[in-house]
Amino acid sequence: MSQNSTSPLILAITSQKGGVGKTTVAINLAYSLAKRGWRVLIADTDTQGSIGLSLSRRAKECKGLYDALRKDESPEKLVLSTRLAGLRVLTTGQCDFDLEESLDTDATKQKLGKLIRNLSSIDCDVIVIDTPAGVGPVTRSVLANSDRILVVEQAEPLGLRSLPLIIETLDRLRQRGARFQLSGIALNMVSHDREESLSAVRDLRELTPKGTVTQTIVPRDKAFLEASAKGIPVGMIGKNPPQAALVFDQLAAELEPSLNLTEADDAAQQLTQLMD
Ligand SMILES: Nc1ncnc2c1ncn2[C@@H]1O[C@H](COP(=O)(O)OP(=O)(O)O)[C@@H](O)[C@H]1O
Ligand SMILES: [Mg+2]
Repeated sequence: MSQNSTSPLILAITSQKGGVGKTTVAINLAYSLAKRGWRVLIADTDTQGSIGLSLSRRAKECKGLYDALRKDESPEKLVLSTRLAGLRVLTTGQCDFDLEESLDTDATKQKLGKLIRNLSSIDCDVIVIDTPAGVGPVTRSVLANSDRILVVEQAEPLGLRSLPLIIETLDRLRQRGARFQLSGIALNMVSHDREESLSAVRDLRELTPKGTVTQTIVPRDKAFLEASAKGIPVGMIGKNPPQAALVFDQLAAELEPSLNLTEADDAAQQLTQLMD
């Protein structure tokens, strides 16, 4: 499957709170999309980020996104391949004090925005971007230059309190001209044996327009802890991936239409080519 004739959509994974599972969702969703046959680039914009460190053997010594930003260069040649053919990684690279400080300046925000936008010239089907917690300058630049947004929320009553701020941020960015669409709100760390967790899921579904919260909910499962300690998707743990890995195959299948990843598109493209 491929979408050679169109540029890839950029999907940003975001949330107001830290520790809700953005990185877990980004890495496992990217992996499942790649396993399902799409050519995926996962890019890490979190200066504390660890995506890719174990996905690619060379990642630790390699440069990444913030090195490209510092030099105002295209990051294309810094993209690393992984053990899974369809999955490539752009790591954060080195972010020092000076660069971190400059991230709040208009000049650097503009450069970062341009860099994110230009990722779509890289030959792949979809780009998944992990963001830092909160709606600081990096996250705002990423969101403003993305095509789709997936908000991650923790399925707990307190977790849901952060939702209004992220919704307001998305509204404000749209008012300033951002063109993204919301692919959905994904609920993470759902405890099926805890009533508070299940009622948080129900409340969020009721509070948001139909279809906003994804059908697929991600359970709390210790396999994610083990995988994230290694910086890898759960599907890459051992020879027999845990059940938890299947949830992301389901989430990938659910989100594909909103990411323009449909075989029907391919068929339509082929038909157009035949008719040309
Ligand atoms: N569904 C889950 N079940 C159990 N632990 C999880 C789950 N999702 C994330 N975690 C763990 O929670 C911690 C924070 O997750 P992470 O993805 O790093 O969040 P964020 O990127 O939003 O800060 C990590 O240790 C991760 O392994
Ligand atoms: Mg993270």
